[in-house]
Amino acid sequence: MKITKICCIGAGYVGGPTMAVIAKKNPHIQVTIVDINAERIAAWNDKDVSKLPIYEPGLAEIVEETRGKNLFFSTEIDKSIDEAEMVFISVNTPTKTYGKGKGMAADLKYVELCARNIAKVATTDKIVVEKSTLPVRTAQAIKSILHNTGSDVNFSILSNPEFLAEGTAIQDLLNPDRVLIGGESEEAIESLAQVYGSWVSDDRILRTNVWSSELSKLTANAFLAQRISSINAISELCEHTEADVNEVAKAIGMDSRIGPKFLNASIGFGGSCFQKDILNLVYIARSYGLNEVADYWEQVIILNDHQKRRFSDNLISTLYNTVSGKKIAMLGWAFKKDTNDTRESAAIYVADHLLNEQAEIAVYDPKVNQQRIQADLNYLNTRTEKENEELVTTFDDPYKAIEDAHAIAIMTEWDEFKTYDWKKIYGIMKKPAFIFDGRNILDKTEMENIGFEYSSIGK
Ligand code: NAD
Ligand code: UDX
Repeated sequence: MKITKICCIGAGYVGGPTMAVIAKKNPHIQVTIVDINAERIAAWNDKDVSKLPIYEPGLAEIVEETRGKNLFFSTEIDKSIDEAEMVFISVNTPTKTYGKGKGMAADLKYVELCARNIAKVATTDKIVVEKSTLPVRTAQAIKSILHNTGSDVNFSILSNPEFLAEGTAIQDLLNPDRVLIGGESEEAIESLAQVYGSWVSDDRILRTNVWSSELSKLTANAFLAQRISSINAISELCEHTEADVNEVAKAIGMDSRIGPKFLNASIGFGGSCFQKDILNLVYIARSYGLNEVADYWEQVIILNDHQKRRFSDNLISTLYNTVSGKKIAMLGWAFKKDTNDTRESAAIYVADHLLNEQAEIAVYDPKVNQQRIQADLNYLNTRTEKENEELVTTFDDPYKAIEDAHAIAIMTEWDEFKTYDWKKIYGIMKKPAFIFDGRNILDKTEMENIGFEYSSIGK
């Protein structure tokens, strides 16, 4: 099938950047991204590209170049689906918060709604592409919905999971390690391979069966997260043995069988994917009665929760066992640098723990606003919205956030934090002035020479 029009359902962190790059590299294809969230679509259409709903380095430039030419953002979902030969489903698949599988399984209601919508409005044959991360065998459910419409429209279903990481999404999309396409119909697979073939060499486009493709996505995230939990486990051991986790990571990472990536000890991984996808993997394994497999992967999450908790425990015990009424300045709220995404950010859980101990929290993040921070805390339901508002203040100026603080907690590894005037910062803090570097981005000796009481992870 020759693809001239693509529709992508879901204008989020994956749909937006992925389709922008597909449009840039395929000027002959009209790409329309649709969403039920009219506010989000309006933000994508904002003339001022600094107001796009997602911050990703390089994204605004591509949107500016393609928007209105062959990239469109719209709320006209039905029309856009029907016009397209290829429809991507790129909606959210969060962990279920109710019913069977609550807290573990992926909630597939948004995906099912998309499938039903496609089934309802399609009048011509379509290739339907699962771009969302889905449990193994979801394609079966989508197929069943699409094949029972009663019309004579034909649907081919492909699994094409996305491997981009936030903060580097555009680079990852422009230069992917691989593109994975799982499917039954060779013709449909080749139609999608051609879209990617505009800029990805064919040896990087893997064709598999649909179930391998779905499972590979969950497995890739589980392996990546497992490396972080592994190094974080060693970081705690380092703190008891005078070994330095950075030195250990370097030493093991130089073994080409291990490799250097994803070995940065931290306050624990966050983001919308790792925890959700591992919980889902654990749930699937348990549902097949594979309890040892499930327990093995669950440990990655248990260790990650422990890492977040021990960071805040250490902060409290170092501040003479109480943070009640003390100002703690948090630098960073996003789950990693170069994104405005805060989903599952360790900062949320560390803040919540400190608030339970009656701390007063001052936050500065270069890309996250007060509304988002309050919403993240309110979502936990630990205290009233009013209490969160009273106890947590957000600042546009890091120095104002830090002024008169008892301690600084570095939550995100934003590059700008390294360039601050740390002597000046020492001068405006309460003494002793404590730094808890959850990302190991500052130099211990330099900080101690200024006068700080400095503690980091795994040293
Ligand atoms: P997101 O929440 O940023 O975006 C999803 C969008 O889908 C939202 O704007 C929502 O309004 C829209 N939507 C939901 N139901 C809809 C419907 N029925 N019709 C139209 N629009 C609808 O989510 P995301 O981060 O882009 O993730 C999407 C999927 O991609 C998830 O399955 C996720 O696991 C996967 N994924 C995410 C990343 C990442 O880094 N965020 C990376 C790889 C894969
Ligand atoms: C991840 C996967 O990397 C990506 O392939 C997938 O498509 C989506 O999930 P993302 O969550 O956007 O991407 O970012 P990632 O760079 O993987 O970081 C996830 C979390 O792990 C962040 O909180 C990050 O700070 C943390 N991390 C990462 C560490 O603590 N140490 C590391 O060495 C690497």
